[in-house]
Amino acid sequence: MATTEEELSLEAARQLLDSRNLFAADPDVVKDPYKFYEAARTIGPITQESNSGIYLATRYQDVLEIERRHQDFSACVASLGPFAKGHIPERPDESGCPFGSADLETKVESWRKRVQSDLIPVLTLDPPEHTEYRNLLNKLFTVERKEAITPRLRELAQELIESFAEDSEVEWIARFAGPYTYFVMNEVMDFPRADEDALRRSFLERHQRDSATSMLSAGSPNPGANALGVSDERFHQYLTERRANPQDDVLSEIATATKANGTLPEIEDLVGISAVMYGAGQVTTTDLIGNGMKFLAEQPELQVRLREHPEELETFVEELLRIEAPVQGLFRYTVRDTEVNGTPVPAGAIIWMLYGAANRDPDQFEDPEIFNPKRENAYQGISFGAGRHFCPGQPLAKLETRITFEEVLKRMKNIRLKNPDDDVIYHDWFVVRGPNQLAIEFDCV
Ligand code: HEM
Repeated sequence: MATTEEELSLEAARQLLDSRNLFAADPDVVKDPYKFYEAARTIGPITQESNSGIYLATRYQDVLEIERRHQDFSACVASLGPFAKGHIPERPDESGCPFGSADLETKVESWRKRVQSDLIPVLTLDPPEHTEYRNLLNKLFTVERKEAITPRLRELAQELIESFAEDSEVEWIARFAGPYTYFVMNEVMDFPRADEDALRRSFLERHQRDSATSMLSAGSPNPGANALGVSDERFHQYLTERRANPQDDVLSEIATATKANGTLPEIEDLVGISAVMYGAGQVTTTDLIGNGMKFLAEQPELQVRLREHPEELETFVEELLRIEAPVQGLFRYTVRDTEVNGTPVPAGAIIWMLYGAANRDPDQFEDPEIFNPKRENAYQGISFGAGRHFCPGQPLAKLETRITFEEVLKRMKNIRLKNPDDDVIYHDWFVVRGPNQLAIEFDCV
């Protein structure tokens, strides 16, 4: 039986959670979503958000379990979450379908076929289709490829840092994090040089014209080709050329890889997948590099430590990913009545797998609110998801971030926030978390 104290804290948690809509860009939620996740965890393993009706999974083990149980939880709403409400099949009413036997799998498939073009390929697929296409992405960032691209990634980081090093101050997101992840992706795709130069120019022009926020959100909700300047036609052309004439790059790898059943996919089917690869890695890694600079700028002693011990940067990056998950959570849709950790979840529900909360689950991480760049189990964080959809770009994202901070520490010291008394403003889209802008000052090494 709950004690009065427990009842009180439960009531306070419920009040806090119900006081806000987590999906409405509420400034309090954007500033600190973690206290709302914590309230949801206090209420129970799987808690329904009153405003949206969406179920929240905040515990580490539960998120892993949901990722694994694709027969019960479809990925069809992965990044759409609340936007899918009213479009996906609704739960049949109780009279036609008693609790325990609702099964919406077939309906999801027909819905998926109808709206396929609006969905993000791969991320929203379930087996067996997902398995077929996922096979194309599994071997993109091997140890060999990582070694081969490292010198060029380092050069790109150095070039960008040099472009502002003498100024002693920089707007980090617009001048480094955004362009760097964009240039890296062009590089690993190995677009023809002339196209790459044009793409860079138009990216930088747009970056100067628009704020970092609108640039990022243009690429965020549907990281498709157009937001980032590469049209479907161009991807089609590149893929056709690489299939005929493979080179040592990611696009050739996608163009020539076979599906799980051994057949070569149609080029048309690869266009969306290539666009997702191209877009998915940019906003997310920009956020990781943005979050990293914020932590570094706030901790002068950490800068000194990491400069002397660059080998510790690997754990620094892991801990960064744990404490500020760039993707706060993705969604699943229950295709039949089920339960998680003893809590019933009906067919037709949307459930949010909150990586941002799971990474701060006290049952998994000691003192989870504390940023500890030496945390031994930081690598257990699940910012890249888990199971069959586990992020295929993870090796690249970590490599880019490690190289960034190696180069930063070589060239910049005494890094500090330019406006330490102002709150850092984060994107107001609930799926991703990273600063919109980050003005820093530093001394040149
Ligand atoms: C810090 C950077 C990144 C973060 C936090 C991140 C996070 C994620 C997450 C959470 C998922 C879904 C996993 C799941 O549902 O279990 C995912 C999937 C995906 N990511 Fe990343 N990602 C990052 C960088 C990248 C990069 C650099 C690329 C491309 C080079 C990339 C390409 C993809 C693709 C194609 C998928 C779909 C995979 C599938 O559904 O099977 N990501 N990512």
